Amino acid sequence: MQLKIFKNHNELSEFVADRILELVKTTPEAVICLPSGDTPKLMCSILVDKAAKSRADFSRCTFIGLDEWLGIPPENEGSCAYFFRNNLFHAINFTPANIHLFDALAADPEKECEKMDRIIAARGGIDLMVVGIGMNGHIGFNEPGVSFDNYSHVIDLDETTRSVGRKYFNTPVTLSQGITLGLKHLSETRTVILMANGEKKAAIMKQTLEENISNKIPASIIRTHANGIVAIDEAAAN
Ligand code: F6R
Repeated sequence: MQLKIFKNHNELSEFVADRILELVKTTPEAVICLPSGDTPKLMCSILVDKAAKSRADFSRCTFIGLDEWLGIPPENEGSCAYFFRNNLFHAINFTPANIHLFDALAADPEKECEKMDRIIAARGGIDLMVVGIGMNGHIGFNEPGVSFDNYSHVIDLDETTRSVGRKYFNTPVTLSQGITLGLKHLSETRTVILMANGEKKAAIMKQTLEENISNKIPASIIRTHANGIVAIDEAAAN
């Protein structure tokens, strides 16, 4: 694992956007998995700008959405699907058939997980996974206590995730379960970048990097990844 500390959120976001563009250039059929949330928002806007300037072609790439709030429809502004539509898909030329997001309204969420696992396996695994980190050390919705051996699964959300998650919604919602890629996917991904910015992430970043590697802090798994990059700004490194 490599630790990279950037001056600010902008430089950190630029680094991640550049890594995505480099990958798409060298591997036009790359499988890319991204998170939603406040952390990657700036990166997405930089990526959109740079992709337009460099005429990057994502049409042969596969896009995998990291996770979703179970039961929240895609038209809800707090859903991950809404985030991707508004921050990426409006401007980046992913082919719609190559975009794979969890269906939060699936009648059988377990089958939805199996479907996602099959898609990833059929594409030969994920080339680049970018993740954020929750205030409780979660990655995707891999909450504290989760097994490192899970592929996609449905999970009861931790109290911290339920309350912090309200920041994405303009209307009252009940957040109780998530559907997410598993940490086994992360281990098997060729390159993983964990992004964190801001002072509020400093305490959990310290725990992630300095405490024992265990499922108490799911993000600590990044330290076991040979091509894991922890990319944070100075405030998160504080
Ligand atoms: C979102 C996701 C979550 C977030 C994490 C940090 O798709 O997977 O794990 O990355 O909760 O969220 P922000 O970036 O809003 O601080």
